[in-house]
Amino acid sequence: MAMLEVKNLGISFGGLRAVNGFDITIEKGQLYGLIGPNGAGKTTVFNLLTGVYRPDNGNILLDGQEIAGKKTIEISKAGIARTFQNIRLFSDMSVLDNVKAGLHNHHVYSAVAGIFHLPSYQKEEKLMNEKAMELLQVFELEGEAEILASNLPYGKQRKLEIARALATDPKLLLLDEPAAGMNPNETQSLMDMIRFVRDHFDMTILLIEHDMRLVSGICEELSVLNFGEVLAQGRTEDVLNNPQVITAYLGE
Ligand SMILES: Nc1ncnc2c1ncn2[C@@H]1O[C@H](COP(=O)(O)OP(=O)(O)O)[C@@H](O)[C@H]1O
Ligand SMILES: [Mg+2]
Repeated sequence: MAMLEVKNLGISFGGLRAVNGFDITIEKGQLYGLIGPNGAGKTTVFNLLTGVYRPDNGNILLDGQEIAGKKTIEISKAGIARTFQNIRLFSDMSVLDNVKAGLHNHHVYSAVAGIFHLPSYQKEEKLMNEKAMELLQVFELEGEAEILASNLPYGKQRKLEIARALATDPKLLLLDEPAAGMNPNETQSLMDMIRFVRDHFDMTILLIEHDMRLVSGICEELSVLNFGEVLAQGRTEDVLNNPQVITAYLGE
């Protein structure tokens, strides 16, 4: 069974058909790219998948379970985590606490144990610290665990956002232009980390990117959106050699 199967997904904003007839199938452990020019509808697809917007039509099956039309919180519990095109961190919390905020969503100990710092709470807290530090190591942030998230350089903030999303232990990770605003060195290191996350955690990842050179190196399959519709879909090298795709990008 596919990890994500989307059929005929669509939404209009007033007279604008922002996403139309969108289909995608992503297998477990795949690193899949969703590309297309600015305004093509990529972020809207993520907003539909995560329940920020309710689709006008279509089905979204996550690991076989229908999630179309469900609320954001239900979809998060069902196993989809995302990052945003514009960073959203808890800027007044430490780097470590940002990751632990993700873990807290899934490790629920009783409120009473938490308030009185009972042994069950302390054990849970220790486990959470270890798991959070492990995730920070993946993104080479373990040395900055105690500093405020807002004091991290921009490129590291973007990495921290991914670490926090992973802390919720998702089935599917959605990354919206994770390299936006990064310099070429930071971008290369981020792409290596994304690939590592897929390999190491056997994570299923859907990656939005408008720069197709960036995704061509790491994604096995691509979907190209243009004016809300799929222009091409399939193996990366086939898609990138598709004349329609080349024209759409040259016309940008
Ligand atoms: N909440 C909204 N209300 C009205 N129009 C929207 C809304 N969200 C997105 N759009 C429109 O949908 C189109 C696709 O936007 P978006 O998904 O952000 O594109 P991309 O992420 O590919 O750059 C754009 O024309 C955008 O203006
Ligand atoms: Mg976008």
